[in-house]
Amino acid sequence: MENNILVVGSLNMDLNTKVKTLPGKGETVFGEHFYTVPGGKGLNQAVSASRSGGNTWILGKIGNDYYGKLILEQLEKSGLNTELIKMEENTETGKAVINVDERGNNTIVVIPGANSKLSIKDIDDNIKIFNKMDSILLQIEIPKTVVFHTIEKTYDLKQTNIILDPTPVTEIPDNIYKKLDIITPNLTEAEQLSGYKVKNQNDYKKVSRFFINKGVKNVLLTIGDKGVFVKNKDIEQLIKGVKVKSTDSTAAGDCFVGAFASRYTGNNLIEAVEFANYAAALSTTKKGAVSSLPNKIEIFNFRGGQQNE
Ligand code: RIB
Repeated sequence: MENNILVVGSLNMDLNTKVKTLPGKGETVFGEHFYTVPGGKGLNQAVSASRSGGNTWILGKIGNDYYGKLILEQLEKSGLNTELIKMEENTETGKAVINVDERGNNTIVVIPGANSKLSIKDIDDNIKIFNKMDSILLQIEIPKTVVFHTIEKTYDLKQTNIILDPTPVTEIPDNIYKKLDIITPNLTEAEQLSGYKVKNQNDYKKVSRFFINKGVKNVLLTIGDKGVFVKNKDIEQLIKGVKVKSTDSTAAGDCFVGAFASRYTGNNLIEAVEFANYAAALSTTKKGAVSSLPNKIEIFNFRGGQQNE
């Protein structure tokens, strides 16, 4: 049976450049290519969940402008349920300016636009749909008060998994940590939230324990091509990265979360992480955000022919 997944989060139009080397401070460089692709951490998670087999909705806002209409148009054939995307009048659609270098590394500047207009009322007006969800996915490119309110409301429903990707980093209150089933920070985010420095593999445990001590049930610490460190009260396990020739890491973290949610049933944590690990690795072999996200068949085929590193 397909998991029902609701992503509450951002939708952006990504304005991408491909450059040999990322420009330094005060530097001008020539780019090789420019392209626009729908993105935003919320939309990427939602498309990833949908393509990898989840019955998925996104609750978020776009502007009533050229990019907003283009995003909706491009999502029409995606299989994602788009009826909870609202167009905000007199507001620009969120945008991200992304530079990607020849190794696939990137820098991202986000202009929130309509994402910043998502309100507590928007959550409360749609609260009925929360009841039928297996998981709610959140990131923090929408107002953090809305993220925290959504977590509080969802927690009251009891049977729904709450998954938070704490990006971009913001301080998270203790009463919110306690309500999370799963948190998915990358190393930098984990360091910033915990105040610890991660120098080697032993520190993965220490930094993950910070979140467990705060009351989070499961920590999925994403460590780029090194894989994912999984920690809860019974498990402490590194799921190694999958080797690929990476061309663009944009949205790999979002891909991981969406693919994970599409598989996770509550008692298959490691299996769902392994599946998502393959999905995320595969996404780095293609350029752009939504354009790079693999579907279930691609992930299974890839997994069939690949071993973890
Ligand atoms: O995580 C990648 C995403 O970050 C991009 O799609 C961009 O829109 C920013 O939100």
